[in-house]
Amino acid sequence: MDDALSVANLKARMAREQERQGPPEDFPALPALPPGRYTSQAFFDLEKEHLWGKVWLYAAHQSQLPEVGSYVLLDIPDAPIFLMRGRDGTVRAFYNVCSHRGAPLVREATGTQASLRCTYHQWTYDTDGSLIAVMDERDFPEPFDKSCLGLQAVRCEMWGPWIFVNEDRDAEPLLDWLGMMASEFEQFEIDQLRPAQIKSYELECNWKLTMDAFLEVYHIKGIHPKTVGPSLDHRGAVMGLLPNGHTRMTCPTRITSADRAERRGYGDGQSRTMPAIAMGEIARDYHVSHNIFPNIITPVGETARQFLMFWPLSLTRTRVDVVHFGRDWGEGERPAGWDGLLAFWDVVMDEDLQFLEWQQRAVLSPGFKGYRLSYMERRIYYAHESIDRMIGVSNVPPELRAEPMLDAYLELPDHHCADPAQASAG
Ligand code: FES
Ligand SMILES: [Fe+2]
Repeated sequence: MDDALSVANLKARMAREQERQGPPEDFPALPALPPGRYTSQAFFDLEKEHLWGKVWLYAAHQSQLPEVGSYVLLDIPDAPIFLMRGRDGTVRAFYNVCSHRGAPLVREATGTQASLRCTYHQWTYDTDGSLIAVMDERDFPEPFDKSCLGLQAVRCEMWGPWIFVNEDRDAEPLLDWLGMMASEFEQFEIDQLRPAQIKSYELECNWKLTMDAFLEVYHIKGIHPKTVGPSLDHRGAVMGLLPNGHTRMTCPTRITSADRAERRGYGDGQSRTMPAIAMGEIARDYHVSHNIFPNIITPVGETARQFLMFWPLSLTRTRVDVVHFGRDWGEGERPAGWDGLLAFWDVVMDEDLQFLEWQQRAVLSPGFKGYRLSYMERRIYYAHESIDRMIGVSNVPPELRAEPMLDAYLELPDHHCADPAQASAG
């Protein structure tokens, strides 16, 4: 993102967005999304089968598995999976399912064990998942081959310090799936980041309503008039639609990044106690937020990056996890500036989440006729298109589809400008 060409390109695109008088010529009118996408159990089941079981999902930060035998029990809905660091130092993912009768191997959120003993009938597994001991093995019929009865592994790969899992054995490698995202993130030196806090919220609404809420800045004047609203010029926002459903938003700011920390209430010099995150010119001077498809929104600021993640607990219940990462501050307590920043985020999250349960009741009612999206909200439409692409468009009942509209507007590697606003600028 930050080579000289794309810096100039993004600045020009933001200027064109600020100046345009209407949607760019030839940009399609986006059809209203059918309410059933948020209310249909059949659609939810399609997502479960074709989306959640086949995509790379964030699992943990490597610091959560500091030593051999460290484990982390994941909280991905309907996916009983844990991570473990083996004797060889490798982090692996396994189903938390004993090969005997399915009891769990780990029940605490995190811990360290030299081996994994199922406490039901005491089958024991090594840290690499292999079955090493079976109580009363004589009672099982011959041939009894322990080497075939290890724990079921789940695909597990690293993006810098971030561990991702994927239940699809045939999924493309994580870094290939991330594509341009991985190269864009090199400027941020992500290996230097560590988690400072994880906070979760639960809401009575479909997970996509929570995702949609973080994919546009059209709402900032409405619900963030005193927090993030004053610092962003939403009319200049550029939405980069990338392959595989990933997106990038770049938004002009009205104040400098130093002033931003002060204005947002974690100033008083406190923000200066936090080491700065490495970044290029665009991320430093503008507001940049990426969506790692399907369920991570990750804005980056001067001293912190968040992963906001949306997890479907049921058709109408969602957990939002917010992980705050900062540049490693070395030994000791986290810097004092974190307290102000986290308090600021509490306020902003309450602002962002306030309407979602109302919207769920709305989409369930006959009074709601469709979910209308403007040009500025096209990133939401693209996320929905991408969900349908994962499901297979022909598998989605016609009345529930997000008809593919935006293929022509994708940014592709080495092709910086699939920019609708440029077309109209001539
Ligand atoms: S279920 Fe694990 S040993 Fe029986
Ligand atoms: Fe917001």
